[in-house]
Order: sequence, then C-alpha cells, then structure tokens
Amino acid sequence: MTALTALPAWQDTLKHAQRLQSIDLRAAFVSDPARAQRFRLKACGMLLDYSKNRIDDAALASLFDLARATGVETRRAALLGGERINTTENRAVLHTALRAPRDADIRVDGQNVVPEVHAVLDRMNAFAERVRSGEWLGHDGRAITDIVNIGIGGSDLGPVMACQALKDYGTPHIDLHFVSTVDGWQLADVLEGLDPATTLFIVASKTFTTQETLTNAKAARAWLVAAAGEAAVAKHFVAVSTNGPAVSAFGIDTANMFGFWDWVGGRYSLWSAIGLPILLYIGPDNFRALQAGARAMDEHFANAPLEQNLPVILALLGIFYINGMGASTQLISPYNQPLHRLPAYLQQLDMESNGKSVRLDGETVNYHTGPVIWGEPGINGQHAYYQLLHQGTELVPIDFIAAVANPKSPREHHLIMLANFLAQTEALMRGKNETEVRAELSAAGLSGDALEKLVPHKIFDGNRPTNTLLLDQLDPAGLGSLIALYEHKVFVQGVVWGINSYDQWGVELGKQLAKTIEADLRSPHSLTAHDASTQGLIDYVRKALKA
Ligand code: F6P
Repeated sequence: MTALTALPAWQDTLKHAQRLQSIDLRAAFVSDPARAQRFRLKACGMLLDYSKNRIDDAALASLFDLARATGVETRRAALLGGERINTTENRAVLHTALRAPRDADIRVDGQNVVPEVHAVLDRMNAFAERVRSGEWLGHDGRAITDIVNIGIGGSDLGPVMACQALKDYGTPHIDLHFVSTVDGWQLADVLEGLDPATTLFIVASKTFTTQETLTNAKAARAWLVAAAGEAAVAKHFVAVSTNGPAVSAFGIDTANMFGFWDWVGGRYSLWSAIGLPILLYIGPDNFRALQAGARAMDEHFANAPLEQNLPVILALLGIFYINGMGASTQLISPYNQPLHRLPAYLQQLDMESNGKSVRLDGETVNYHTGPVIWGEPGINGQHAYYQLLHQGTELVPIDFIAAVANPKSPREHHLIMLANFLAQTEALMRGKNETEVRAELSAAGLSGDALEKLVPHKIFDGNRPTNTLLLDQLDPAGLGSLIALYEHKVFVQGVVWGINSYDQWGVELGKQLAKTIEADLRSPHSLTAHDASTQGLIDYVRKALKA
C-alpha cells in the first residue's frame, strides 16, 4: 500500500489547505461572481451549496486527484460489486443490495443475493400489513396497539432516527417505543402503561449475543409470560437477527424471525429486517419510498463523475479540514425537528466506521482519521454552543440540513426557521470586521473608552466553513437519499485514509472487561486483578450495593 502521505495529491492538498487557511471568503464571493453557482450541486432531491468552504478551484482539483490516487473509483466498484472489502471480518459490505430493485443481480461469491433480500422484504411487508390492519391478534384476540423495539447501536439508532424523521407518515393507531439501554429505568418506563395483550416486542440484534438487548428482552418476555403465559410469546415476540439458533435458544420461534446477512453492518442495517419497526410504523409503500430514495443516491454515487458527486464532495471537504486544517470534529446541524436524532445516528455511522488508527495493511496511520461527530437541532444549538462556533478557537466544519417544504410547520414558524438557518451560514462565513463593529457601536451612541473596550469582543472572524444541504422535502424518499449520502461519504473517507470502515474491534475490550467486572461485583471479593483505580471503584460500588 502506497503511503498516503507520500502521494503528490496528498502533499498538494495539504499545501492548498495551508494557503486557504486564511482565505477571505467574503472577498472571494465579490471577486468571483460565479463562485456560488460553481460550488453547488443539485441531485437526488437535494441541493448542496458548498461555496462557503475555504476552497477554490485549485484546492478542489487536488482533492479530486487525491480521491483518484487513493482508488476511490476502484474501491467503489468493489463495494457495490459485493467484494469482501471488510477484510478483517472477511465479509462483503452490501447495504446497497438491501435497496436494490427485484431484478438486480448483485453477487457474493457468485450467488445473487437480491432474491433473498426481496424474500425477506416480502415477509416483512406481509407481516406489517397484518399488524397494521389489525389482522394480527394478541393472545386474547385484541389487535396490537404498541410496538416495543428492543435493540442497541445499529439495531436501534437507525429505526429511532427514521421513525422520528417520518413521524408525519406514521400510523396513528400504533405507538412505537424503543428500549436500548440496560439501565432498567428505560424498560420499566416503557412497560408502565402498556397492556401485554396489545403489545408486540421486536427483539433486534444482528448477533443475538448483545448483553444489553438480551437482558432487556428476557425481562420483557418475563413481563409478558407473567401476565399471559408462555403460549402468548408466539403472538407477542418477533426477532430480527442473523443468528437463528440463538433466537430459538432464547425462546422465540424462528417462524417469527426475520433474517439478514453477515454482509450487512449493524450501522448500515436499517434497510434490512432491522428496519421492521420503521416498516410497521410508516407502512410498506413509504418504506419502499425510503429505499428508493437511498437507491437514487446509490446510483448517483456509482455514476456521477467525482467532481459532481455529492458524497465524494462532502467526504473530500471533510478531509480538507481534518487533515489540512486540524479540525477534529464535525457538527451536524439539522433544523427540522423531526431530524433531531440524525446526529446520534450519524455518530455511530461515522465514528464506528472511521474511528480507526490502523490501515488495511496493518500499519499505524500517521495522519488523522474520523472526526468526532456531534450535534443537536440547529435552532437549539444557536442558543447553546453556537457562540463557540462563531468566536471560539476551534475550527468546526458544519453541515446545515433543512427541508424547504415543511407542511406540518405553520408558514410563520417555517419562515423564521429557514431565515435562521440561512443567517447562520451567512454569519459564519462573512463575520463582522472591526470597521463594521465600530460603525455599529457608534450608531448605538457609544464613543470613547466605552466603545474601545467593546470593539474586540464584538468582532467575528468569519470564514467558518459550512455546507448547506436543502432537501426538497423531508419525506421517505428524501430521508433515504440523505442517509445514503452520509453512508457513501463515510466510505469515501475510509478509502482515502486506507482504513477498514466496516469492522468495529474497538468496541470489544470494554465488553470483555465488563464481563469480568460483573463477576467481581457479584462476588464478595474480586476474582480478577485490576489497576488500583478500577479496583477502588469496584470496592466502592460493591459496598454501596450492600448498604
Ligand atoms: O457494540 C457495538 C455493536 O456491535 C454495533 O456495531 C452494533 O450495531 C451494536 O453493537 C448492536 O449489535 P447487535 O445488533 O448484534 O445486537
């Protein structure tokens, strides 16, 4: 593997980043009237304006050279063609096959996987129709009114995010609940007020070994059995997993199981049977539209030239800031309230994928990789942490996301929201210089010492980079395209950095140690040696538990 840092395109990119570190974006818009038009792109029902970035044509050209030099196009073909690009787990990575049309032919080891995908989707649709129509009955003959999804990580975040985002499309007669944490408060909170006879549990776990999920599922099963007896389980529990034997061993009939495959990564799984709660909530037609939106983005990603490719552009801009200008975080700022769980979802998607420091060839990287992803709905952010974004010392690239159409929000609210959305990107770019501050303070009647003291505090440097993503609509197709945009962005960054975006060994150590500490907490004395800090904490907790 050629060292990334030895590539001429990498070195050029870093030089451009150094040159553009102090670009005057306000002046760049004045001197180049075509800038805004040139650095914007419309595809898949969304407009990306990336002109408020610290870029110019030469910098972008070097970034596209970098993408080519690191093999983005070849790796893209390998991803979409079902090659085993997840080398440390020897798996293909085929979330795109989950939303492929019925007549597509996508092969893993010579076997077309699309017919199996559609067979499961057909079963999911039929099941969803029965539950939604009231034909699927609980143990005492009543229809289902509440669905509880028990899962964590990729078996929770995608469905939660999508169901929130598509609330307007949700069925009004079914309430959805999600239980992820093993802190028993959450399950207790959800179960309180539910009637076992009208509640359906989905136990969602790719591996069906995840301790948090199985602990919650066991408790939920016991709750049901206590109220309705063992025979009720078949009417009230379904499983979503790749692990049939573990589902049976748990006590769920595999006739009530919806399967998927090892080539679906947890954080890429909402398109698979893991999306069952979404399908139950928004119905088969809307779920198909969600998938169609993602498929449109897949096609765009596969076919558009790199220079006009939305995920590629987002990925390269991210690399420009992370590797060229020292940014270590990426803010996701959605302005539509239904997108409030998008940042949490993207945290797993991006950080579990690209939070790596070893390359595919086993060498340790000598450059930065995945950033810290964070965010909240943008308007709330404005009244909390945007101060730092405008005047702090950190460079924080931001994705501003909003839908232009928002039928649910009254026009008065929607206009104010969009005005704030646009104003923030303008303010972050243009800033406010000393001359403007002085003029403003004078106009407000200040002069002399009082004015001088305030001037430095009121200056905004500007040139803070933002992407503006305007969705035509926050509908199932629009959401599908948005999610796939970020999936592919993460892929492209992983390729450039030469890392495996599809394993997650970093989550293992904590899980292993939790097992030994759990045993220690259950016994009067620790069974395993720990460092002094951890041992002291174990002793403290053990004592508190006894008290
Ligand atoms: O611990 C991390 C992780 O393995 C994620 O990658 C995954 O999405 C989550 O746990 C849940 O895993 P499972 O679906 O197998 O329960």
